[in-house]
Order: sequence, then C-alpha cells, then structure tokens
Amino acid sequence: MQNKNVLLAVSGGIAAYKACALTSKLTQQGANVKVMMTKSAVEFVSPLTFQALSRNPVFTDTFDEKDAKKIAHIDLADWADILIIAPATANIIGKIANGIADDMITTTILATKANVYIAPAMNVNMYEHPAVMKNMQTLSDIGYFFIEPGAGYLACGWIGKGRLEEPSTIIEVINAHQNSPRPLLGKKVLISAGPTRESIDPVRFFTNRSSGKMGYKLAEAALEMGAEVTLVSGPVNLDVPSSSINRIDVVTAEEMYQAMTKEFPSHDIVIKAAAVADYRPIHTYDEKMKKQDGILQIEMERTKDILKTLGEMKTKQFLVGFAAETQNLKKYGLDKLKRKNLDAIVVNNVGQEGAGFEGDTNIATYFNKKLQEYEIPKATKKEVAKEILTLILRDMKDEKA
Ligand code: CTP
Repeated sequence: MQNKNVLLAVSGGIAAYKACALTSKLTQQGANVKVMMTKSAVEFVSPLTFQALSRNPVFTDTFDEKDAKKIAHIDLADWADILIIAPATANIIGKIANGIADDMITTTILATKANVYIAPAMNVNMYEHPAVMKNMQTLSDIGYFFIEPGAGYLACGWIGKGRLEEPSTIIEVINAHQNSPRPLLGKKVLISAGPTRESIDPVRFFTNRSSGKMGYKLAEAALEMGAEVTLVSGPVNLDVPSSSINRIDVVTAEEMYQAMTKEFPSHDIVIKAAAVADYRPIHTYDEKMKKQDGILQIEMERTKDILKTLGEMKTKQFLVGFAAETQNLKKYGLDKLKRKNLDAIVVNNVGQEGAGFEGDTNIATYFNKKLQEYEIPKATKKEVAKEILTLILRDMKDEKA
C-alpha cells in the first residue's frame, strides 16, 4: 500500500463505521487515501470522521466542485491506483452493474481505469437474492474483484453471510491480489476447444468424446494470468468462464479451420486443444437417410489439418498442439511436433486413469522444440492449464534470450 493512491467509496449501510477503521489502517500502511460517500452513507457516519482519518477532503456530491480547475469525479478517477467500495450495498452493486452514474461514487467508478475491489455488506437474504447475485457476476466478469462478506451475526438480527469483511482482511486480500503475478499481460492467446461435428444428414453426425474442459480451463487460466483470450469452441456443454473471453462458436472442422486461420495472425500464443475430426462424410444428405437392408458404407474424406496449416503460417506465434495417445507418447508426440512445425506439444496418455477427455483431471507430458520433456502429474484441468501456460512462457523467454 506504500504510496498507493487509494480511493475508498463508502455506501450507505451500518457497516460504514468499519470503513473508518479501514481508512485508518490504509493510511498507517502508507497509502494516500481519499474518501467518497453516498448520501445514505452520510446518514451513518460524518464525512468529518473520514476527513480527519484520511487528512483529505471527503467527496459526497458530484456538483460540489472544490477546485474550479478540475472536474472532481474525473480527477479522482484518474488519480486512483486502487478503488475500494466498502461497504458495498445491494443498491450500489446494482447501479454499477447496470452502468448507472447518478452520484459521486458511480460517476467516478465509470470513469476510472484503477483496479476496483468490492466488499459487499448487507442482509443475508439480500445478498443471496438472484438479482444481487446476477449483478455481482456481471461485475466479476468485467474484472472487478470481490472481497466476500463474512458470515455471522448481522446488524439486522439475522445470522448468515453479509457481514463486511474485517478491514485488516480487506487490506490483506487486496495486497495479495495486487502482488499476484499476471505474466501474460499484453499477450493475446488463441485457444481451440471441444470436438467438431461432421454431418451425414440433418439428424446424424460424426463426433468424438472431447468435452472441451481442458481448452476452457486453459482459456480461464490464461485470462487470470492477464492475457486477452479468444476461444474457438466446438459444440460443448460448457459456459464461457468469463464474458471477457471472446468466444467464437463453430461446429465443423471446416468452420474451425476458417475461424483459426482468420484469428491466428493477430495472436501471440496459439493452443490447439480441440479434438478435430480427421474425416468427414463426402456426401451430406439434405434429407434424413432411410434405413435399408444390408451393410451401410459411408465414404469419408480427410478434413484439413488446421494445426499443420497454422504451423506453415507461423511468423511470431508460439504454437502448441495437443495429442491423445495410448502408447509411445514421446515418439508420436515429437513426430507431430516436427511434422506440424510446433513450438511445443502436450501429450495426454488417455489410457491412464485420471487423464483424457471427459474427466475433471488430467495427466500430461509437455515436449518443446528443444526436445525437453516435462511431466505434469495428475491434477485438476485448471492446475494442468496453469502449468502448461507457465511452461509456454518459460520457453518463450528462453527463445528470446
Ligand atoms: N488437429 C487439427 N486439425 C485436424 C486434426 C487435428 O488442427 N484436422 C490438431 C488437434 O487440435 C491437436 C493435434 O492436431 O492439437 C492432434 O494431432 P493429430 O495428428 O491430428 O492427432 P491424431 O488425430 O490423434 O493423429 P493420429 O491419428 O496420427 O494419432
């Protein structure tokens, strides 16, 4: 917090009294603190208290311009490194989630590029109301960070979740978040995930067992590590982990080919976790095929190898393939790496329990161009995703050095 400009927004709940201790602790830790209050917050605590604790003027009214040379809410928005809303009522969360700007706090929040932390405090039933949950999800998707309220006795008499987190914990959580590394900041990551579907007729298609989970976890982990993420997804039963991820839905291998080759040039890291169909029926019937006696033969043709095409298109990109094997992992993996001009390949031993398509865990081996080999032991797909991205970053740094 040392020398950080911290803008504290206090909205109108009984927990506003705890914001006084928060102001005091922030200044003790060396932060420059300025406080904004809603009209309702002023009903609970006097602005003079915050003024004395922060040694700065307190802002309560958008139109009370203290300095004629500046527009206060824009000036404060630009000044802040960190903006904390504590306590955040259901009302202020709802307003921000819907882009409403009708007072000092909400206008400043819309104008700021600072990291925003929200510490809610309200009655447990309000906190659990679907409208409030939806608004919090919207803000979380935008990239605002929530400091969950604690559970216990609430001022309204209920026992449950809704109590403003303790000021010392709020500061601890913010410090930890500020210091957490975002090594993919400024990088654009393109990921393909899921299976493809190749139709025979309007009601039948060929596909495979890919669930898309590994690719989606890679997208989530890359976003958390600071990347701008594009996810080209085959048909899966998964929700995009955050609306900040640019998801492009495709169905067939040809559609995935079109999307990936279009997106490829503008990305820095490209990971092909999708299980693309290698073959598709030569004929797709417009009407439903009727069954007949005897054997049915369906002629299939090869689809385009997307990864191989990307390997040929490669300029600056770090290109990573996936392979599912049951034997000779190293031999088959390295063969694909060379044949498709990859920088690395992640090989899943799908014969092993805990690895592969449908489960929530994976076991993998990462091979790079220098033929170095890294075992990623059994872990959740999210952990495996983080490990893969860390290995990619390390190889990219080695290449530059
Ligand atoms: N891939 C692709 N386009 C295809 C097929 C596969 O981009 N038409 C990509 C997958 O996304 C994955 C990698 O290639 O990253 C898998 O390599 P591939 O050689 O196709 O694997 P298998 O189909 O398992 O190959 P083989 O049958 O030779 O084992």
